[in-house]
Amino acid sequence: MDFRELAQKRLPDPMFHYIDGAAEDEWTYKQNTSSFDQYELIPRFLVDVDKIDTSTTVLGQKIDWPFFCSPTGYHRLFHHDGEEGAIRAAARAGTMFCLSTISTTTIEDVAKASDGPKVFQIYVLKDRSLSQEYIQRCKDANYDALCLTIDVPSNGRRERDLRTGMTVPPKLGLSGYMNIAKHIDWSFNYLTHRPTPSMVNLEHKVQKNSSGTSVMDFMNSQFDRTVTWKDAAWMIEQWNKPFAIKGILSVEDAKIAADIGASAVMVSNHGGRQMDGCPAPFEVIGDIVEAVGDKVEVILDGGVRRGTHILKALAMGAKACMGGRAYLYGLAAAGEEGAYRSLSLLREEVQNNMILLGATSIDQISSKHLRKV
Ligand SMILES: Cc1cc2nc3c(=O)[nH]c(=O)nc-3n(C[C@H](O)[C@H](O)[C@H](O)COP(=O)(O)O)c2cc1C
Repeated sequence: MDFRELAQKRLPDPMFHYIDGAAEDEWTYKQNTSSFDQYELIPRFLVDVDKIDTSTTVLGQKIDWPFFCSPTGYHRLFHHDGEEGAIRAAARAGTMFCLSTISTTTIEDVAKASDGPKVFQIYVLKDRSLSQEYIQRCKDANYDALCLTIDVPSNGRRERDLRTGMTVPPKLGLSGYMNIAKHIDWSFNYLTHRPTPSMVNLEHKVQKNSSGTSVMDFMNSQFDRTVTWKDAAWMIEQWNKPFAIKGILSVEDAKIAADIGASAVMVSNHGGRQMDGCPAPFEVIGDIVEAVGDKVEVILDGGVRRGTHILKALAMGAKACMGGRAYLYGLAAAGEEGAYRSLSLLREEVQNNMILLGATSIDQISSKHLRKV
């Protein structure tokens, strides 16, 4: 959370609140982290914890500790190191990176930036040929897995963004531009680093398709409210490698995901950015593990700010955790080094608290370590 403060100082308000904000009253957003407080960890002592192994395997990739980076858009708006800096930070911190469709660095350039394990976050778009193109590009660039985000049939109402003007299309207004001008370090780097942030994975389509439509408008027009499980099944077939479905909050949807052949479900409410009032991942993950944990990997996404949150999720049956803001605040504050440092702190907390818990490997962490407050 120190990185959150540093990010707030460095970023203009519209960019900071785009990261920090969530939908409507932000109730779900707060629940995502506070739900971890409903459980305590029960340590066991006089166990030989001289050597511990924090590694695990998720989506076919061995990672050094059970947390990886969730897909988040627009990195170059936050720091000129962008997605390339973020994937390098993840690899240096011994973990996996998930690239967003609305990234400001291409699928190929991110793959070139690091040999670390990587996932691409995809949508079933109105133009199915574009989704198909992404699948092919990910195959060519050797991505290890795909994750299909299913919780954006419409955008959540993020009221901070409505106030600052970080909307589609942006409506920053005079006060927004003045605020940007006041953040000299950010503005200097924004103007002097190429290319100007944009949704680079889409640009070629916009040039071909339209006269004057911005890339943002084009992306927005691509969200398809008619998408169903049939389309998700189609995508799984096209990919033919580890495939996760992101945005699951119910046992029923988790069962369908398992039935259509997904390898993992990411239990997530998009960091509280979509529907306010829906449950926190930690509250529903136990039931989902019980229903489908023997068929698919169940990953918790959202609210993780501490190593103990990760351990509680594992004790609840999660295979691993992932998160966005935990590394984004670091990236926004200090680029690759900031993202690396924030991930490293989280990793150290996992290591130290595993020793205190009396667990020498991830598979030893179980419900016997949890107690409801
Ligand atoms: C600034 C920002 C941008 C995001 N962009 C995307 C995105 O492009 N695609 C996606 O599936 N999820 C996106 N998310 C949601 C994250 O993948 C993840 O679900 C969320 O950050 C988890 O909550 P946490 O930030 O508390 O860890 C975004 C989240 C943030 C904060």
